[in-house]
Amino acid sequence: MKNNISRISLKALIAIVFTVFTFSNQLNAQDGAKLFKQNCAVCHASHTDQKLTGPGLKGIFDRAPKGDWLKNWILNNEKLIKSGDAYANKIYNENGKAAMTVFEGQLTDKDVDAILGFIKAPLPAAPGVTPGQTVADATNAEPQGSIDPLYLILGAIIVLAVLLGALRSVRTSLQNSVRRSEGSEELPDLTFWQEAKAWMGQRRRLVGVIAIILLFGGMKSCWDACYRIGVYYDYKTQKGYKPEQPIKFSHKLHAGDNEIACQYCHSSVEKSRHAGIPSVNICMNCHKGIQKGPQYGEKEIAKIYEASGFDPKTGNYDNSKQNPLKWIKVHNLPDHVYFNHSQHVVVGKIECATCHGNVKEMTVAEQKSPLTMKWCIECHRKTEVVMQGNAYYDRLHKALKEKYAGQYDVKFTVDKIGGLECAKCHY
Ligand code: HEC
Ligand code: HEC
Ligand code: HEC
Ligand code: HEC
Ligand code: HEC
Ligand code: HEC
Repeated sequence: MKNNISRISLKALIAIVFTVFTFSNQLNAQDGAKLFKQNCAVCHASHTDQKLTGPGLKGIFDRAPKGDWLKNWILNNEKLIKSGDAYANKIYNENGKAAMTVFEGQLTDKDVDAILGFIKAPLPAAPGVTPGQTVADATNAEPQGSIDPLYLILGAIIVLAVLLGALRSVRTSLQNSVRRSEGSEELPDLTFWQEAKAWMGQRRRLVGVIAIILLFGGMKSCWDACYRIGVYYDYKTQKGYKPEQPIKFSHKLHAGDNEIACQYCHSSVEKSRHAGIPSVNICMNCHKGIQKGPQYGEKEIAKIYEASGFDPKTGNYDNSKQNPLKWIKVHNLPDHVYFNHSQHVVVGKIECATCHGNVKEMTVAEQKSPLTMKWCIECHRKTEVVMQGNAYYDRLHKALKEKYAGQYDVKFTVDKIGGLECAKCHY
């Protein structure tokens, strides 16, 4: 009898765990819709032919090349176009060479799979959505029936507890009536807690297993919740922010057409935490001579002279007339976050463009990455630390390789050197 009960309880336990997993899988399917809405819906309709900036994606699985093509395209279409891929160049030209965003560094392989899954599946029939609408409208209707599995479990536990209490009193009174008819003494009236203790004492192993599962489950969800902070706050990302600056300074003209190195102006990017914005003296190195621009003539460059107190007619500086330029900051991490450029650019060997997009093409500087916690963490999870030519890592890497020889394919990503520790990024 006793064994029967624990067997049933174990089965119930497995069933509960299973239900939770099924629910979290359903939630994953909805992630695709959310990711699409966040990243793609500005330029694409997911389930129709309607052209926005990019083509409607209906029938994309039939027309695009098979294999990994779609994934490669979505992660880095620039690379694919440059590689000479025929289909990539065809659609690029057909769409007037409009540039699609490069998502490498922002989306993981899993994200892309989720997005493709969403495009492939028929649109869920949300109320009031007609086939002509774009997905931006359709997914605005929140996915239906998405109850947090946590609430379901809590509900189930409450129902079980009530049921247990009821059964217990029924059982006691039944047993007592049997005892009365046998003429033996009635059972003592134990409190629920006393009885529960006795019950648990008899089933230590089962109780232990449940306790461990609850403990780890709790720890895991706390942990996940921490890393989701960035995800929940995605909506306030400033991605796409490109304020108008006091001077029409163009990166395209300077860093692109005239091929001036980024470090010429952002000179501290390899040495310190900040990349730095050049002072007007740096501009004057060239603009003392260059007094006219191709687009705005003398008008914009005159502002440089005004800021530095320079008189182009006499060629003299008047320090009393200096009036520093007030550039508007494009990227703004909150004060509680620590980000270090030299660590990423020099040690991590990451290109400016990975985080800032193709600045050489920008006439107005723009924030291209979300700068959310999720963004930092996802890159740390998948980017391998550069080992070559770094004596410290060379040694460490060799030691690790020897230690785990033949056991693992040692992939040494940033998270393994502490890139997910809260204190590394937060004061
Ligand atoms: C800034 C606008 C923009 C965004 C954002 C964007 N795309 Fe595109 N996409 C384009 C353009 C434009 C094209 C056409 C090719 C070209 O001009 O580069 C394209 C082409 C495509 C194609 C090939 C279409 C065909 O008909 O063969 C696919 C697939 C695609 N995009 C998927 C995505 C996915 C998935 C996302 C989100 C992760 C996304 N795109 C985000 C603009 C965008
Ligand atoms: C001739 C000087 C010059 C060169 C060269 C230059 N920049 Fe800049 N950069 C500036 C100035 C001035 C600003 C501030 C005005 C603005 O935002 O447009 C700026 C702003 C930026 C910003 C936005 C900063 C913010 O406010 O958040 C980024 C990112 C940036 N530059 C990246 C680059 C990269 C990458 C390169 C090389 C491809 C580069 N810059 C080359 C002068 C330069
Ligand atoms: C290394 C040299 C160099 C530096 C440093 C430099 N510029 Fe220039 N700038 C150029 C050149 C070259 C041109 C283009 C002249 C032409 O094509 O006629 C130019 C053109 C311009 C124009 C004219 C744009 C137009 O289309 O009319 C502006 C405005 C300008 N620069 C602002 C700045 C500012 C602000 C700084 C400092 C943050 C700066 N430049 C630093 C080389 C430089
Ligand atoms: C790993 C991502 C990453 C890389 C790589 C990167 N940046 Fe940044 N950059 C950022 C972030 C994040 C900020 C915002 C920092 C802040 O607000 O404190 C930023 C800010 C800036 C700014 C604004 C001024 C400042 O110091 O905050 C400039 C200019 C800039 N970056 C230039 C560059 C240049 C030039 C390179 C390449 C040599 C580069 N960045 C490489 C992530 C990156
Ligand atoms: C494009 C990928 C990428 C992005 C995006 C990125 N990082 Fe990193 N980060 C790296 C790499 C690679 C390293 C390892 C550098 C090294 O070898 O020490 C690193 C290292 C770090 C470290 C040092 C970790 C340690 O244990 O020494 C901190 C702190 C850090 N990043 C903060 C941030 C923050 C904050 C952001 C977001 C604002 C961010 N990173 C975004 C790639 C990235
Ligand atoms: C790789 C860098 C990185 C790591 C590691 C990291 N964070 Fe963050 N965190 C960020 C960035 C960047 C932001 C700012 C996000 C924004 O403004 O959207 C942020 C924001 C936050 C916020 C505030 C959210 C808000 O609305 O501004 C909290 C709270 C937070 N992090 C907690 C944590 C905890 C707890 C951990 C450890 C489990 C952690 N972070 C680890 C980079 C990191």
